[in-house]
Amino acid sequence: MLAELACFKQKCGARFPIDEPIYNCRTCGALLEVSFRNGHIHAEQWKKTWRERRISNEVYDQSGVWRYRELLPFDGYHRQAVSLREGNTPLLNAPRAAEYANLQHLTFKHQGFNPTGSFKDNGMTCGVTQALRLGKKRVACVSTGNTSASMAAYASAAGLDSIVFIPHGNISYGKLAQALEYGARTLQVEANFDQILALVRVLAERLGIYLLNSINPFRIEGQKTIIFEMMDQRDWNPPDWIVLPGGNLGNTSAFGKALRELRDLGLISVIPRLAVIQAEGASPFYDFMRNGGAFRSQPDPHTLATAIKIGDPVSWPKAFQEIEVSKGVVEKVSEQEIADAKAIIGRCGIGCEPASAATLAGIKKLTLAGVISESDDVIAVLTGNVLKDPDYIYRYHTGQLKDPEGGNIESRFGNKPIVAPNDADAIARILES
Ligand code: F0G
Repeated sequence: MLAELACFKQKCGARFPIDEPIYNCRTCGALLEVSFRNGHIHAEQWKKTWRERRISNEVYDQSGVWRYRELLPFDGYHRQAVSLREGNTPLLNAPRAAEYANLQHLTFKHQGFNPTGSFKDNGMTCGVTQALRLGKKRVACVSTGNTSASMAAYASAAGLDSIVFIPHGNISYGKLAQALEYGARTLQVEANFDQILALVRVLAERLGIYLLNSINPFRIEGQKTIIFEMMDQRDWNPPDWIVLPGGNLGNTSAFGKALRELRDLGLISVIPRLAVIQAEGASPFYDFMRNGGAFRSQPDPHTLATAIKIGDPVSWPKAFQEIEVSKGVVEKVSEQEIADAKAIIGRCGIGCEPASAATLAGIKKLTLAGVISESDDVIAVLTGNVLKDPDYIYRYHTGQLKDPEGGNIESRFGNKPIVAPNDADAIARILES
């Protein structure tokens, strides 16, 4: 399909070629999105082709992103794409989590199975491929940890230099370690995510560096494939709800765009409702949806789910549209609720990082409020791998986890390690007690 960049503000309507290195509308400054001019499409044939590609040994068929290349803005360019076999993430049935959240069934789509352990890989393969198409040599992002891990990996795989900006002392070691190991120049800036994003936008412009935050519309395009793959795995039967955590709100934008495109192309018949869950201490989108009026950012966001510790989400106008179109909802959850939900996801044998667990905590709240019904078909998207933040896990299970105000988080589903002597009898007594 032919693609171009379009101003997200319909009133403006400005359009730009797909190979312009811009992130905002040159006319009005609003966000940009990729817009397709649909030719004749063959919905049933495409579904068949996508399914057949799953058993192909071709790199771009094996990728759970590039497999759906007909719906991406890289017509004829996918052979130059940099792929680490991203996507291909499972749908996992989780009866124990369903019971916890008062549902009959609950399915997780686990994006933590990606090459760098988060959903960012779906978008980054496209973002870095666009950097190559534009002939860029350097890429940069500000990140709460996962975007930087992903960008560092894909940039290195593509032979590009990468520069990572992270809030000093505010990302998990697992994520920081990834950026270092994959070879990114890593700057720990003494400011929060929102402040650093403003800084990096200036620097990217000044130094000609390609910016790979989620304001980059090609990242959003790649993240659409999470939904394409989900629907393909379900034989194109949409669930009632898709639940995801909300930080900078790029993923909410991507999911909504994917669903609208699938519906407009006749690949699905209805759009499921989106439920976006934020942490209480970083919930500007929740406040906006609840109170209306102008969007107000939160100057000092706080949550132990550092991935979503964002007070000024750039993609809120897009996310707002997607909540409206999908008749979606936005909920917020406490630190204790996130921690407990996370432990329950662990007990399912699945596991995830704290931000991802906001989904289960949010579902529990929404079923109790009667918004989600117990028989609804619900898919929650787990955005990051359990090993992203082991420090949090250890503290929770040993009763040492403190919320950002220093209050205790109860270890309600704790599983403390036991120190044992080197003595078979003593260990037997412990195991039998
Ligand atoms: N879950 C995880 C694990 C994340 O890393 C993020 C965002 C989100 C949820 C929220 O997604 O921003 O699209 O609403 N992480 C970004 C980063 C901000 O820098 O890694 P969103």
